[in-house]
Amino acid sequence: MSLIETLGLKALYRLDPETAHGLAIRALQMGVTPAPGPLTSPRLATTLAGLSLPNPLGLAAGFDKNATALAGLARAGFGFVEVGAATPLPQPGNPKPRLFRLTEDGAAINRFGFNNDGVEAIATRLAKRPKGAVIGLNLGANKTSEDRAADFARVLARCGPHVDFATVNVSSPNTERLRDLQGREALMALLGGVMEVRADLARPIPVFLKIAPDLDDAALAEIAEVAGAARISGIIATNTTLDRTGLRSPHHGEAGGLSGAPLFARSTRVLARLADLTGGEIPLIGVGGVATAEQAYAKIKAGASAVQLYTALVFGGLTLVKEIVTGLDHLLARDGFANVAEAVGTDTETWL
Ligand code: FNR
Repeated sequence: MSLIETLGLKALYRLDPETAHGLAIRALQMGVTPAPGPLTSPRLATTLAGLSLPNPLGLAAGFDKNATALAGLARAGFGFVEVGAATPLPQPGNPKPRLFRLTEDGAAINRFGFNNDGVEAIATRLAKRPKGAVIGLNLGANKTSEDRAADFARVLARCGPHVDFATVNVSSPNTERLRDLQGREALMALLGGVMEVRADLARPIPVFLKIAPDLDDAALAEIAEVAGAARISGIIATNTTLDRTGLRSPHHGEAGGLSGAPLFARSTRVLARLADLTGGEIPLIGVGGVATAEQAYAKIKAGASAVQLYTALVFGGLTLVKEIVTGLDHLLARDGFANVAEAVGTDTETWL
């Protein structure tokens, strides 16, 4: 980590986490964040549902909810960037405080509740997105919407022309009853509507489904089946958890979704289970608790074609991106893999 970044992170820690995050976004907008240039190599370059990625490490949804830091993020070294969640109408989200650092646990709890500027503002920003980078959008539903399934389709219809992929997020724990949309009937109807809109786009983009880590094996089997039937392009495993086992930080009792280190094993188990259930038929994206190259590599070996992270950046800063990506290149080389794709799913057993 650079001296400036170390000092910057220390200063940010003194602030409440949401204010600190706002400053991190400002720094990205001002171009004073790490810009290591394209991080790629023949081993790292890979494809995900038809998308060509320079490397398999992506930024997870929720970091740049309003797509206001695209240029900075496009230079930060990620293989792909997911912004949002965007909902049809702007909404303020839950009352503050709603983001908590669990420093002792390397974790965070958030209960933002899809605060965002709404699809119009976000679409306008995405239309001016930097070219070259792979940028996707996380789709959400308004809290007070009468037809949440239609919300996802609406956001996709408006923003689809400006992004490279979109994610149906039915797994945020912070919008009441949203996770109910993961059930078989509701999910089939929802994905049907979304995939119809996708087919009508001039350039049909990959559509991913993002799921919760708190689903049992039966629910996972159902989701794998529905996703396959709906011809979903990939599954992102996982969102944040409601589980609070083993936490030490004073904030452990806050309501919301837990992310970061304590989520690693749980989300990787879900990933491996899905890899097992889908037999490699549906590309998987692994997310949850990745903070090191070894952990990114473990997700790939557990079945992920690509990996995302968010919370580790709160503790390690954006220089972590280069550290993880170059570390991953070395690990692949060490184990004799010619590329990422060769390593995908080579060790699911550890997690099953
Ligand atoms: C999130 N996450 C998230 N996910 C999503 O699909 N839509 C969203 O709007 C958000 N918002 C959000 C806000 C904050 C503050 C956090 C910490 C997380 C979940 C995120 O994308 C990811 O799935 C989890 O955080 C697990 O990965 P990490 O953070 O452990 O690397």
